[in-house]
Amino acid sequence: MWPYPKIVAHRGGGTLAPENTLAALRCGLEHGYRAVEFDVMLARDGVPILMHDAVFGRTVRGVGKVADFTSDELTAMDAGSWLGPQFAGEPICTYRQVLDFCRRHGIWMNVEIKPAEGFEVETGRIVAQVTEEFFADEIAAHEASGRGTWADPALPLFSSFSFEALRAAQVAAPDIPRGFLTDVIEDDWQLRLQELDAVALHTNHKYLSPMQAQAVKQAAYGLFCYTVNTPTRAREILGWGVDGFCTDRIDLIGADFSLPG
Ligand code: G3P
Ligand code: MG
Repeated sequence: MWPYPKIVAHRGGGTLAPENTLAALRCGLEHGYRAVEFDVMLARDGVPILMHDAVFGRTVRGVGKVADFTSDELTAMDAGSWLGPQFAGEPICTYRQVLDFCRRHGIWMNVEIKPAEGFEVETGRIVAQVTEEFFADEIAAHEASGRGTWADPALPLFSSFSFEALRAAQVAAPDIPRGFLTDVIEDDWQLRLQELDAVALHTNHKYLSPMQAQAVKQAAYGLFCYTVNTPTRAREILGWGVDGFCTDRIDLIGADFSLPG
């Protein structure tokens, strides 16, 4: 059983607000969303920040690598103007700011660990350590109850395209569940999940077949898709047994979206 919310706002607020910012989280919240996916990368000083691209140019003006700048330098940068003047000055935010925001508003998190090249292990380890420390009370409650952490939506779910990053997260914070992200489902998917002791497979809905969905569910793993932007497609893949998905269109697909339609 998928214990998490079924519908998740991609990069904070989908395409309605500047991705991976507090403005995006506020936008998701205003649309009734209490579940979010976002991308976490390390600044030069090892502080996790929200960022999708490893280089500047698309959402933050400039050239060069994000990982060459400290968190103080990054959080002074504008990550909002690219989407429109109403977002001008919206800064790059830290992962800790997001943890606080989500706790304050009861928002569940799919934390995508997005390491810059060469920082896979360090990013997985640090994001996991910060998360484990933040959720120490929830983890302790679980240990006391003897139930598996997988069954608890009070804990976030890590995901990453980087096997190494997830492996490092597993070592640093084994009690935070993991989902393995893959654009296309390869033949060895089950082995990868076993090696990571992962609870779910996260994949691109565009390449998913009904048979693959069935195989993942028969193997008793969660199945999560990105990035589903029409109600018709959402209904179709949910009908195949997909447990949840993230969307850029939080305006078209409500947080309470369900199969019948
Ligand atoms: O986690 C699902 C999705 O966010 C993966 O792709 O590139 O949008 O981070 P991307
Ligand atoms: Mg992502």
